[in-house]
Amino acid sequence: MALDEDRVSELAVEVFKHLNGTMITAMTVIGDELGLYRALASSGVVTSEILASELSMSERWVREWLHGQAAVGYVDHLGDGRFEMSAEAAAVLADDSHPRFSAGGAGMIVPLLSRSVPAMKRVFESGRGLTYDEFGGAQFAEAQERMWAPWFQHQLVDTVLPALDGVVDKLKHGGRLADTGCGAGVAVMEMARAYPDAEFVGYDNSEHALERANRSKRQTNLENVHFLNPDVDPLPSEPTYDVITTFDCIHDMAHPTPAIRAIRSALKGDGTWFVADVHAGDSLDENLEEANPLLPMLYGFSVLCCLSSSMSSPDAEGFGTLGFGEAKARRMAAEAEFSRFRRHDFANPLNAYYEIRP
Ligand SMILES: C[S@@+](CC[C@H](N)C(=O)[O-])C[C@H]1O[C@@H](n2cnc3c(N)ncnc32)[C@H](O)[C@@H]1O
Repeated sequence: MALDEDRVSELAVEVFKHLNGTMITAMTVIGDELGLYRALASSGVVTSEILASELSMSERWVREWLHGQAAVGYVDHLGDGRFEMSAEAAAVLADDSHPRFSAGGAGMIVPLLSRSVPAMKRVFESGRGLTYDEFGGAQFAEAQERMWAPWFQHQLVDTVLPALDGVVDKLKHGGRLADTGCGAGVAVMEMARAYPDAEFVGYDNSEHALERANRSKRQTNLENVHFLNPDVDPLPSEPTYDVITTFDCIHDMAHPTPAIRAIRSALKGDGTWFVADVHAGDSLDENLEEANPLLPMLYGFSVLCCLSSSMSSPDAEGFGTLGFGEAKARRMAAEAEFSRFRRHDFANPLNAYYEIRP
């Protein structure tokens, strides 16, 4: 059959567009990690000489990087080799306390996740994925934290918890909350700071994440939070917690079915399981129909990260990034004897939120 040459050209252009995106991401990581964005944001109009001298760097390299940043529109070229970063670009690229700070996620993809590409031959052939500690290491726990910290710091205590029935009241009066799959602990520490009379436990089976969480905790004076590895100290089997949260981790678990049952057993009768998980349909067709432009990225995250983690032990259920959408969450919650299920929308295009109760 003759090839449709127009379609061939279109697809080739598509592939190159995505190579473009990969390269832009690599340059974003350089801007973030070398402090170039922060220096640009605080310096007003600069030349490459000024920026290089501020950072004690070689001018030639800074100039090439700046040209690329002007090409993608992250900095403005004012002519005559003068550059400026707008306040908006500074919020997104230089200010990691801004709710829309996005440079943190770049470091997660390049170089961290792309580092596990060579392992994929073995993974695809054996079927056995890699745990977070195997594919990500210590740096990944940090990158993961930087990607989601702005959301936790700006939304969780002020917007999310008050929207859940009775949760704030319990936390104000000495309740107990477990955050399963807590990563480096940002969410649980934000909550512990806001509710000093309540007790908080973060559970994660990544030693790197726990190490980072404990290090961050030591830099605070929080005494109402501690961290445990559930492989050593599982959730208690009696009703102990008023609230259990799982932020973007059920789909990463190798055995989510028993994990959800364990959450049900550890939760008090009037407790709340609050779930944040990737917004997904029940099938590929549903996901394609929705035409989310970030869908290919999510499947990429799955292969290099979430599916890998969720296939990392024998008999794993293998959900992957898009494997715990609303229909499945409802089904599995009902099977674990939860009876109330309410969806929330907290204006995050990537995640869906469920308030699930016995
Ligand atoms: C995508 S990260 C989310 C981390 C954190 N909740 C956040 O939102 O930043 C998923 C986390 O789930 C953890 N995880 C995977 N399987 C787990 C399990 N069976 N029990 C506890 N944590 C698990 C991983 O180590 C990782 O830290």
